[in-house]
Amino acid sequence: MGPGSSAAPPPARENAAYNRQAAKADYQRPDTVPFPSNNTYSRARAGLGKALFFDPRLSSSGAISCASCHRPQFAWSDSAPTSSGVPGMPLKRRSPTILNMAWAAALFWDGRAAWLEEQALGPIQADVEMNMPLEKAIAVIAAIPGYQPLFAKAYPGEKIAGETVGKAIATFERTVASGMSPFDEWILGDESAQSDSAKRGFDLFKTKALCAKCHSGWNFTDNSVHDLGFVTQDRGRGKLLPQIEAAQFGFKTPTLRNIAQRAPYFHDGAVRTLEEVVDHYDKGPWQNRPSLA
Ligand code: HEC
Ligand code: HEC
Repeated sequence: MGPGSSAAPPPARENAAYNRQAAKADYQRPDTVPFPSNNTYSRARAGLGKALFFDPRLSSSGAISCASCHRPQFAWSDSAPTSSGVPGMPLKRRSPTILNMAWAAALFWDGRAAWLEEQALGPIQADVEMNMPLEKAIAVIAAIPGYQPLFAKAYPGEKIAGETVGKAIATFERTVASGMSPFDEWILGDESAQSDSAKRGFDLFKTKALCAKCHSGWNFTDNSVHDLGFVTQDRGRGKLLPQIEAAQFGFKTPTLRNIAQRAPYFHDGAVRTLEEVVDHYDKGPWQNRPSLA
């Protein structure tokens, strides 16, 4: 250590203008969940969507539902690095949480889908997930007597079809919003809701550690994709946009809501604890390449 190292360090330059009270203003929770005008909320729609989300009869094996990988007890993610749907076919990427999807601007780790309505039909048909041709899934649902009145109430005058199945599941997903946390109580003004060390962690998050550059706002995401420098074969968004250098190895910034309940972390589930996540940001290893954030 050099001379004078026992004195308190001078405040970092980027902290100069930092004010905790002002910083907290970016973290107000929204009061209501947004629903699109072409698929507005009703209790009947959310209830039907919930039934479908938890129904394994939508899979070829009769054993897998959406909730097999997006599990409520793991904050709607999973506890494995990557899940497998159909036995023996592990997925290449980790199951992300479906929390706060109502506010998501782009879906999947690489942002390749825009609407929950369209996304919901993908996993039913994907060979590695539920492996069920859509017409067959619709026929199965239509033949279950219990579903007929639920569809009639949720989407009167519309058929039991891919479109209504997608809309119902999307409505349910939008209701899966993260609840009030001690952090939110603190943002609302209750100083006793957070420990001093958590408050200092917030200061670091907003300043020196640069976390809030990408994990911004109440949902802790900029809804964008970034390359964090992982050593990986998966090019993320770059797979969709091979000619665009900045998109290579780009993955979506996940929400950090309920993060402690859904280890392991990152798109491949390779990191087991939050301490190790912070170590990655601090020390790497990361690949120095043109797309690096
Ligand atoms: C076998 C496990 C599995 C099953 C079953 C499954 N998913 Fe997923 N889900 C995943 C994985 C893995 C991803 C991320 C894939 C990627 O980004 O390439 C994902 C992504 C998603 C996303 C995007 C989340 C985000 O952060 O952008 C939504 C929404 C979703 N799934 C909903 C569903 C619905 C609805 C069903 C049932 C119809 C379903 N999933 C069934 C594993 C699964
Ligand atoms: C340049 C943008 C950026 C910065 C800065 C950043 N993150 Fe991230 N964060 C991301 C992206 C993108 C991912 C997903 C990467 C992946 O899975 O490959 C991620 C993932 C995470 C995850 C895992 C989430 C999950 O669901 O698996 C945690 C936890 C996290 N970041 C915390 C932090 C912390 C703490 C900091 C500050 C030390 C930070 N991030 C700084 C963009 C960023």
